[in-house]
Amino acid sequence: MDKETARQRLEVLREQITEHNYHYHVLDAPRISDKQFDQLMKELMDLETIYPDLVTSDSPSRRVGSNPLTAFAEVQHAVPMLSLDNAFSEDDISAYYQRLQKSLGLEEFALVGEPKIDGLAVSLYYEDGRFVRGATRGDGTQGEDITDNLCTIWSLPLRLREKIRAEVRGEVFMPRDGFERLNIVRGQEGLTLFANPRNAAAGSLRQLDPAIAAKRPLDFFAYSLVNFTGEGAESQWEILANLKKLGFKVNKLVSLLNGLNDVLHYHQHISDLRSRLPYEIDGVVFKVNELAYQEKVGFTSRAPRWAIAYKFTAEEGITRIKDITVNVGRTGAITPLAELEPLLLSGSVIKRASLHNEDIIREKDVMIGDKVVIHKAGEVIPEIIRVLREERSGSERPFTMPERCPSCHKDVKRIPGEAALRCLNPACPAQAVERIIHFASRRGMDISGLGEALAAQLYQSGLVNDVGDLYALTAAKLAGLERMGEKSAANLLDALGRSKTNPLHRLLYAMGIRFVGERTARLLAAHFGSLWRVAAASYYELTVLKDMGPQIAFSLQNFFQREETGIIIEKLKASGVNFQEERAEEIQSTLAGNSFVLTGTLQRFSREQAREAIEQRGGKVLSSISKNVDYLIAGEKAGSKLLKAQELGINVLGEEDLEKLLNG
Ligand code: IVH
Repeated sequence: MDKETARQRLEVLREQITEHNYHYHVLDAPRISDKQFDQLMKELMDLETIYPDLVTSDSPSRRVGSNPLTAFAEVQHAVPMLSLDNAFSEDDISAYYQRLQKSLGLEEFALVGEPKIDGLAVSLYYEDGRFVRGATRGDGTQGEDITDNLCTIWSLPLRLREKIRAEVRGEVFMPRDGFERLNIVRGQEGLTLFANPRNAAAGSLRQLDPAIAAKRPLDFFAYSLVNFTGEGAESQWEILANLKKLGFKVNKLVSLLNGLNDVLHYHQHISDLRSRLPYEIDGVVFKVNELAYQEKVGFTSRAPRWAIAYKFTAEEGITRIKDITVNVGRTGAITPLAELEPLLLSGSVIKRASLHNEDIIREKDVMIGDKVVIHKAGEVIPEIIRVLREERSGSERPFTMPERCPSCHKDVKRIPGEAALRCLNPACPAQAVERIIHFASRRGMDISGLGEALAAQLYQSGLVNDVGDLYALTAAKLAGLERMGEKSAANLLDALGRSKTNPLHRLLYAMGIRFVGERTARLLAAHFGSLWRVAAASYYELTVLKDMGPQIAFSLQNFFQREETGIIIEKLKASGVNFQEERAEEIQSTLAGNSFVLTGTLQRFSREQAREAIEQRGGKVLSSISKNVDYLIAGEKAGSKLLKAQELGINVLGEEDLEKLLNG
């Protein structure tokens, strides 16, 4: 191809790739297959290799990483990148709201609520619609030029949808699943693990080699537009709309709020969603909506007065490690646990913290008897942050991992490349019990009443050897168990019966296949449609799926080839457990735009099932009543939520009405 033809073809390719990339990464609605996309990328890269001088600064080829740098250049921020003041309680927020009322001389005014993404603030400069430079926040006035690394973030536009000049600010972050996968691989390669997604994102942006950054699963949400030409905006809400129009990813949970009540509800709502979000957040940010009002309230030297971060309580406390014990997980991984002197943190008593593995114990230099700083954020498992070494008395004892499994007493092994010690005995009782617990868990088959204690009891009594036996339980068999009343037995059988109709993705997740989390389970179920087809899938069929690496494929094949698995599947089949996934496209978004609150006890669904059914149809399930709620679904023994809904005149429906809504 001659150079002029190449130039023209390259421009067409860049346009097409930019557009497909936008549909895939920003709108989450791809228009071509991954394979077709890869072909376009390949053609572009091949042509650019032949004609290197035709490479442009906004070429999609920059996504895979340009040449390594020796140092980052400094960037002066034209408008300083300020930080935010924090609030930690409803009182703090009410006081803040009152200050705003006073300085604006208004009773009520609109605010925008946004999740506070736990990542890194960056500033992106665009000229003529092209990404020219990107920088870290640094000290707020001066940051580092990390343009090449930012180019590797697929959802960050290299070309805007309008040819304007703009400075866009937002947060670079690493989604949880990507973070977990990255750490698995790092563990296998013997590299130190990242402590959290934020550190992993920071480490990735600080790479001098953009090709390394390109391999890190980074993502970006835009939240502010500083200097820009083009369509004007009079409010933060319009700015967010403009950012979307320009081609940026804007967080879907942003909300326009009116008054203090809305503000408090929003915080509660996001706080409830927190543990289910695919990325980490550490609070919510409230911003006065009208730009004119923002100007009126102004800034302090470090932060705007028109915005505040309402942080979730992530509390720290100090306690002592009484002992270190080990737990055997469902995959045989042997995890050391710190047994703590009980400590009250974020409203719950903490008695244990995971120490993960031997390397972490060594790295943190943890000994039995040490005083330690504990951190707990939201619903997550408490973590030991550090040891107070200066408080040691000399009576502390080092801990060594056991050579035998504490449950079955067989030798434990450290598989080369893995951080964890493992009990490899498939008949290990501790593993069997953990598999039952996982199977019944809320995110698994959601069998309420079947927790740790009962799982152990069922296993020890010989009634349940594997999850396949659960469905053969009867009232008569359960009657023989200690502490098992008739009522609890009936409830358990009910819950078991209900769980038989769960969609395939729940079953797949519940089976506890290594590396198959909820997301992968959904992907597999949606793609293959039935358990038989997943079990029969070839290595090739598995690895061509997006986000499905060799590790997951091996693990799946290994799992389905095992004789025990075959036996369990037969038992599940004989008990009438559902093996199919309803095709996503057959479920219509009939409830889109409607929000629900669930309260009381439902008969035919568990809460989790009701939530899932509503969400599958595009509806939202909120945790508290406000005027934004369309329907309250009230089961038996509905309490204060029902009263409040009636007060606000919200539609109250029973379980049968919900079923009609779901089916209609
Ligand atoms: S607004 C002047 N909005 O929080 C306005 N910040 O503590 C400053 N952050 O440096 C930023 N999500 O890294 C804003 N939706 C959001 C945010 C957000 C996360 C971070 C950002 C900032 C820090 C301030």
